[in-house]
Amino acid sequence: MGITGLEPRHEAALRDFVADFRAAGEPNIPAFFQRAEWDHAQTVAHFDAWAQGEPMGWTLGTEDRFVACTTRFLEVEGTGELLGLFNFRHRLNAQLERFGGHVGYSVRPSARGHGHAKTLLREAMAFGRGLGLTRLVVTCSPDNVASARVIEACGGALQDTYFHDEQDTEICRYWIEL
Ligand SMILES: CC(C)(COP(=O)(O)OP(=O)(O)OC[C@H]1O[C@@H](n2cnc3c(N)ncnc32)[C@H](O)[C@@H]1OP(=O)(O)O)[C@@H](O)C(=O)NCCC(=O)NCCS
Repeated sequence: MGITGLEPRHEAALRDFVADFRAAGEPNIPAFFQRAEWDHAQTVAHFDAWAQGEPMGWTLGTEDRFVACTTRFLEVEGTGELLGLFNFRHRLNAQLERFGGHVGYSVRPSARGHGHAKTLLREAMAFGRGLGLTRLVVTCSPDNVASARVIEACGGALQDTYFHDEQDTEICRYWIEL
């Protein structure tokens, strides 16, 4: 297994990855910011542009609040199958500090329960170290037991829990020292 950015060669693998979530009744993939109308080349181009700091225009804030973000996939070497992904926000803004944090991740439903999310979060931690960060904020819902276990297994310490009005949900916020 290896970590990779999204490349032109991943077209069929990405289609299969998205279909896995749909088949499981999870059409919204956390941390995967793609628009249905984009073809593969446009998706690759957008991911590259956001990593360079070009505004996304939605989801992570308006232009003045935009934060550069990098998406990386966990890939089966050889077959090119995509198992999961993380989206790493290079810095926090006021919005991300309370919801979303530095990193979000998803593992395809058919590949869960094999430690892939822990691998992804550890890779995200390495990415953060590469940016010169010394600690990460990660948030999750108190109902998301699997995600909380992943965060704790990676050294996350619960900082606080609060109700987030915009998301209309309770949030657990963790710090991970790098
Ligand atoms: C959360 C998610 C990323 C976990 O992926 P995963 O690859 O199955 O996670 P891992 O195998 O690395 O570890 C999961 C841990 O949670 C536990 N777990 C998994 N499903 C669980 C469940 N339904 N209830 C309780 N614990 C669960 C596993 O046993 C494991 O803990 P352990 O190592 O102590 O045994 C995956 O479920 C997912 O993609 N969910 C949707 C997106 C999401 O919620 N992202 C996180 C946003 S904060």
